[in-house]
Amino acid sequence: MAPLRVALARLRPSALCSLSHPSSFRLTYLSRSLATAKAPSTLFAPLDTFSDRHIGPDDDEAASMLSKLGYASMDAFLADTVPHKIRVAESSISDASIPAWSESELHARAKELGRLNKPLKSYIGMGYHNAVVPPVILRNVMENPAWYTPYTPYQPEIAQGRLESLVNFQTMITSLTAMDIANASLLDEATAAAEGMVMAYVHSNQKKKTFLVDSGVLPQTVSVLKTRAKGFGIRLVISDVNAALTDEALRADLSGVLVQYPDVNGQIKDFSALADSVHAANALVVCATDLLALTMLKPPGEWGADIVLGNSARFGVPAGYGGPHGAFFAVTDKLKRKMPGRLIGRSRDTMGNPAYRLALQTREQHIRREKATSNICTSQALLANMAAMYAVYHGPGGLRRVANKVHGYTQVLKTAVERLGYKATNDSFFDTLTIDVSVAAKDADSVHAAAVAAGINLRRVDDRHVGLTLDESVSPRDLIALINVFAPAASAPSASLSDFPVPEVPSIPLELQRTSEFLPHPVFNKHHSETEMLRYIFHLSSRDLGLVHAMIPLGSCTMKLNSTSSMIPLTWPEFGAVHPFAPVDQVQGYQHIIQELESDLCKITGFHACSVQPNSGAAGEYTGLTVIKAYHESRGEGHRDVCLIPLSAHGTNPASAMMAGLKVVPVKTHADGNLDLEDLKAKAEKHKDNLAAFMITYPSTFGVFEDGVTDACKIIHDFGGQVYLDGANLNAQIGLTNPATCGGDVCHMNLHKTFAIPHGGGGPGVGPICVAEHLTPFLPTHPIVATGGDKAIDAVSAAPFGSASILLISWAYIKMLGGEGLSESTNIALLNANYMAHRLSSHYNLRFKNNNGRVAHELLIDLAEFDKAAGLKVTDFAKRLQDYGFHPPTCSWPISTCMLIEPTESETLEEIDRFCDAMIQIRQEAEDIITGKQPKENNLLKNAPHPMAAIVLSDKEWDRPYSREAAAYPMPWLRERKFWPTVSRIDDAYGDLNLICDCPSVEESAHS
Ligand SMILES: Cc1ncc(COP(=O)(O)O)c(C=O)c1O
Repeated sequence: MAPLRVALARLRPSALCSLSHPSSFRLTYLSRSLATAKAPSTLFAPLDTFSDRHIGPDDDEAASMLSKLGYASMDAFLADTVPHKIRVAESSISDASIPAWSESELHARAKELGRLNKPLKSYIGMGYHNAVVPPVILRNVMENPAWYTPYTPYQPEIAQGRLESLVNFQTMITSLTAMDIANASLLDEATAAAEGMVMAYVHSNQKKKTFLVDSGVLPQTVSVLKTRAKGFGIRLVISDVNAALTDEALRADLSGVLVQYPDVNGQIKDFSALADSVHAANALVVCATDLLALTMLKPPGEWGADIVLGNSARFGVPAGYGGPHGAFFAVTDKLKRKMPGRLIGRSRDTMGNPAYRLALQTREQHIRREKATSNICTSQALLANMAAMYAVYHGPGGLRRVANKVHGYTQVLKTAVERLGYKATNDSFFDTLTIDVSVAAKDADSVHAAAVAAGINLRRVDDRHVGLTLDESVSPRDLIALINVFAPAASAPSASLSDFPVPEVPSIPLELQRTSEFLPHPVFNKHHSETEMLRYIFHLSSRDLGLVHAMIPLGSCTMKLNSTSSMIPLTWPEFGAVHPFAPVDQVQGYQHIIQELESDLCKITGFHACSVQPNSGAAGEYTGLTVIKAYHESRGEGHRDVCLIPLSAHGTNPASAMMAGLKVVPVKTHADGNLDLEDLKAKAEKHKDNLAAFMITYPSTFGVFEDGVTDACKIIHDFGGQVYLDGANLNAQIGLTNPATCGGDVCHMNLHKTFAIPHGGGGPGVGPICVAEHLTPFLPTHPIVATGGDKAIDAVSAAPFGSASILLISWAYIKMLGGEGLSESTNIALLNANYMAHRLSSHYNLRFKNNNGRVAHELLIDLAEFDKAAGLKVTDFAKRLQDYGFHPPTCSWPISTCMLIEPTESETLEEIDRFCDAMIQIRQEAEDIITGKQPKENNLLKNAPHPMAAIVLSDKEWDRPYSREAAAYPMPWLRERKFWPTVSRIDDAYGDLNLICDCPSVEESAHS
């Protein structure tokens, strides 16, 4: 009996304290086959194992697919699919290296770790606040898979809900900032400031190299600017701006000026004269600001700012130890065509109805490859939607009430601490005070110590000053506790709020007080009861197709199950209410999770160290390349600046290389999809003196494992370059191969693909990088919380651990699958793709496969023949798939005439068959057009999608040569589960010519 007692004791949550050996609480004798078998063969094996829930096909379905492909075993199939020379030992990713936890074990452990995050109340500020998330938004947006599982709205007919919400976000930003146009979010405030700096430089035709940053700007923003300025050769001057602008030489070379409004110390400065002076020097004014403050402050658009940016998180998005948060970015009309990020515009559909879509599709700069000036791709759609919903929920009146409270409390606090003998150094403020404590106390440390003892964190400024920022969450009791922190230090009695008069006049200079109205649009003025709000949220989500409806087989995007079990801890307060600059001893839970995740990612990639700071895949690329550049510089080879990139690469690759200060040289691919090794060798040799890096995606974006990957990496290393492996396709590698074995030096991973962070309708994402040992010293640091190596590059994100809270999702995903579950996921992802290729290849032209006839985890079908035969484009097939209830695959990339299809491991055989059946039937519909049975213009594909509004047209109006049934119910199962596109095909050209990017005004709504 003794061993059994030990085993049971180790299952209890109390045993989870053995944090230095996180795997030890798991029953060590449990093999994965026991842990995941459908019928556990021992009484004590957990029933709530994850891999069976995550992986779609069961053993019988997998066996049936294998046999249809002609294989007796998974091993035989894998041997034909993945080149032998890059295979790793089966044991490298196993339950020994990454033990699997059941769902309940994971939750118990997350609770235990959450308790290690000390719940101190934070007044640190510096761009991060304790947001109050309205419960109706928390449960029905943030925790609702109908909102968090859809993809970026490239298929607008099935994305009208989140497009409308993003237009609300854009409208909210333009209205509060008084700017002409705003995008639908960027990654964080610091990277948004870097985008602003580069826009100013581009605006000067890349001639003026000086960018001036006011000393009142947040330190994390300055750090990110330093990193970004280097790649563009921009000279950053950090100084008091008014003084600096008297320097004529500086003015002559000035592209822009960044100011913070209110500044890091809380002071509200009048920048209108500065704006005039900057404009007189033909430069741009970039303003970082705070949305809540703008309800009371004269908006930057009214005093001359050209670009306005900031963090929208205090509008109902938890701090989450730094993110994810939606940054905003707004510009004047004259700058709109240079603005980075996604812009949503209003257009119309073929029936003349208004409809939203991504405007100016080229807005995503990376499409311009090395000519791009930004690499932004994934942004922060879900967080922007939450912030927009917060404004819808509160409306202008509610926002004003929140602002009045925050400001009023700050005024009371100032009065209180000044009565105690301290001095606030800023006379004007919205929510932030910087207090000189030397007058009443000995030093700042004693105040910090008293604060921590009272469960409070203040901002560390210097030996004499402490900083405080108040927010919506502060209660009267909190305010008293805060005041009392100062009382004992000054040997004064404790405070009571009745001691202080209620302030009647704002502590904002009269000329900087807001007089203009904001958010007059109907949407912000009618959904204020919870009933109305709930209905609005569900009305919008019902218009969007997400993973809750059907598979989203987007190649290169890996849209797999985002399990509820991995999402649950995310909204626990232990993880939500944590400030990113909280002292490390207060965030041990987070630290532990981050270290475990980093360690597991290193095991998976075969690399030595990891940084989770980058907030997206593209940000990871940029970070990895900047690390490579720093490595060359450290060896006295800073002149190495050529980056070889295959023509098939994702647009973010060349865009990131350009941002890191590298020159892009394209490398050819063969007609069979493989990299042209001869061309690679010739170019590496030609540029050998300056060769910095080679970027390669593996398996390639053509969906094949290339044999030559190790040879390619060797060529680069022989000529002194480093290899960057784009890990967007890592889902095809785990347990079979890894980027280090392929020959790479650094890779990024898209945690929002391979590691199951949901895509959120266009973000958030996380793009950590893993690096070989020699690159470890260069991993990015952070100015407040030191991270990275001893020769670290400056920060690449505002927060030290990037979008820290969603790291929990990937951590949970890896821990619950364990090594064997991760490997099995990859095997099934490959099998599903090959089965699909097998079914579709007799109907469509499968563009690439290896010598054994196998694809990797995705497949490329070429539709060029249909265009030639009947003028049918990729878009026509994509839109017709919407009628069948599917999200179309990736269209026209990486080859314009192709669809890139990726089923992932999470889809069952039944769902895969359903998709293949739909594709095959559409092929038949196309055939009818080619053979003339259906006309070339008025047909099922050209008219697709068919919304209900089209189907209910009267007999007189229905002018189509096919039945309504064929249009809307082409398959029998659609009778049971029809997803209706809400508009017909949207006219892109009309939308671009008539650019409207905000909500209808009161007048327009009244008119309509
Ligand atoms: C191959 C590849 N690399 C990089 C990226 C960029 O990742 P992110 O959108 O997270 O910036 C993508 C995104 O789709 C991709 O497919």
